[in-house]
Amino acid sequence: MTERELAALAEEMTARSYAPYSHFHVGAALLCRDGRVYTGCNIENAAYGPTVCAERVAFFEAIRDGEREFEKIAVVGGPDGQITSHTTPCGVCRQVMREFCGDDFVILSWDGHEIRRHTLGELLPASFSPKDLTR
Ligand code: THU
Repeated sequence: MTERELAALAEEMTARSYAPYSHFHVGAALLCRDGRVYTGCNIENAAYGPTVCAERVAFFEAIRDGEREFEKIAVVGGPDGQITSHTTPCGVCRQVMREFCGDDFVILSWDGHEIRRHTLGELLPASFSPKDLTR
């Protein structure tokens, strides 16, 4: 799957978003090392705190299926699903990625015009990881 295809899938997923509070619709598409792709959308909650981001939905579905190795994720979002700027993962999602991914994990964002590419190492430097618990 090309990066453009992964971004298109993430964009499609914005239509599944449940975001009656922020109206900010996000979709994600996660490519595993074995080639499988898992998708997610943000799911909000009236109590706000239980809200989950699109990225975590995709990750948790993949983990549930036994996936443990990941290559890249595409993230797309915008107000009422209008994609006009780049959306990058929140801090909580970055930490969830850190649990399963190394510094070379790729995070793509798509604004409807161009793909931007970051690594997890760039977006979450000097982080706390499972390795810290085994020292
Ligand atoms: N959100 C995501 O799903 N992913 C991101 O990368 C940024 C934020 C969601 C959470 C909430 O439902 C809405 O976007 C506004 O913050």
